[in-house]
Amino acid sequence: MHPEAFREALVDWFSTHQKDYPWRRTKDPWAILVSEMMLQQTQVATVLDRGYFTRWMERFPTPADLAAADESEVLSLWEGLGYYNRARNLQSATVVIRDEHHGRFPRELSTIETLPGIGRYTAAAVYSFAFDKPAPLVDANVARVIARLYHFDQRIDTAAGQKFLWDTAAELLDQQRPRDFNSALMELGQAICKPRAPRCKECPVADWCQSFQQDRDPATLPIKKPKRETVLVDEHAIWSHRDDGAVLLQHESGTRRKGLWKLPLRSVESVSHLPVIYRSTYGITHHRVSLTVYQSDSSEKPRKDESWVPATDLPTTPMASPFRKALDKLLSSC
Ligand code: ADE
Repeated sequence: MHPEAFREALVDWFSTHQKDYPWRRTKDPWAILVSEMMLQQTQVATVLDRGYFTRWMERFPTPADLAAADESEVLSLWEGLGYYNRARNLQSATVVIRDEHHGRFPRELSTIETLPGIGRYTAAAVYSFAFDKPAPLVDANVARVIARLYHFDQRIDTAAGQKFLWDTAAELLDQQRPRDFNSALMELGQAICKPRAPRCKECPVADWCQSFQQDRDPATLPIKKPKRETVLVDEHAIWSHRDDGAVLLQHESGTRRKGLWKLPLRSVESVSHLPVIYRSTYGITHHRVSLTVYQSDSSEKPRKDESWVPATDLPTTPMASPFRKALDKLLSSC
């Protein structure tokens, strides 16, 4: 591999094929951090089309604005993106920026990496995209591109596999234009080197690709540990709606959805005599959840962690999406 020609071909392709994202129009490290946190486990289309990034930046234009906000408002603006720890981590990072960096976004890679919830990938993304400074980065797209370029046919989710990917990303990196190079590698993975149906005929770096050159099927790479089997779970919730419009909700105290609200959950035995008024299924990590909601009434006594939430507070009460959908549907049929 002669990296110079590879870099040239990749960045040339990017200069004419890159997509126009709002986070590519800015060099503000804060805006770039927000976009990276949102994009970690959420598709670009969701972040963009449903306006999450723009709304967030309007409400929290600087880290100080987020540091000063109530967690409930923060979670409410994140509602629908899932994986709410990302929002909490982002807020923790802004508190560190305020308290330990005089409110100024750190400009050293090693300092960015110490912010809560910011790993090696996110730190490198901010460093290279905002400051155009050289740091290799590997996300799922880049991992796929590198595994195929080198026909790396061992598992990538091992220490040795990760070392190979990061070392290779460091060798390939264009030190003169790290912003464009890293963006190009990610875009290549998204647009051309797709997981199941790679478009090798359109690939600007097929000349350097061992999978392509050796006529091996790139779709078999990268190799990872098999996914955990899906576990089926049943959830039984009650609908208690008062005449004044208040709804009984339960405040989550577990780790994943801490701070979010949901319809109160009950054992199936305690609700099976009640009429079923709503059903849905949704996925969360490796679970497939069947949610059933039963008609209860205003005589329901709030248990620990439960409260009657007034009608006017419902729109701004942060709820996990499956429960928001249930609430909207049930309110509209009242
Ligand atoms: N996914 C993660 N970061 C991204 C970025 N900066 N552009 C497009 N997709 C991304």
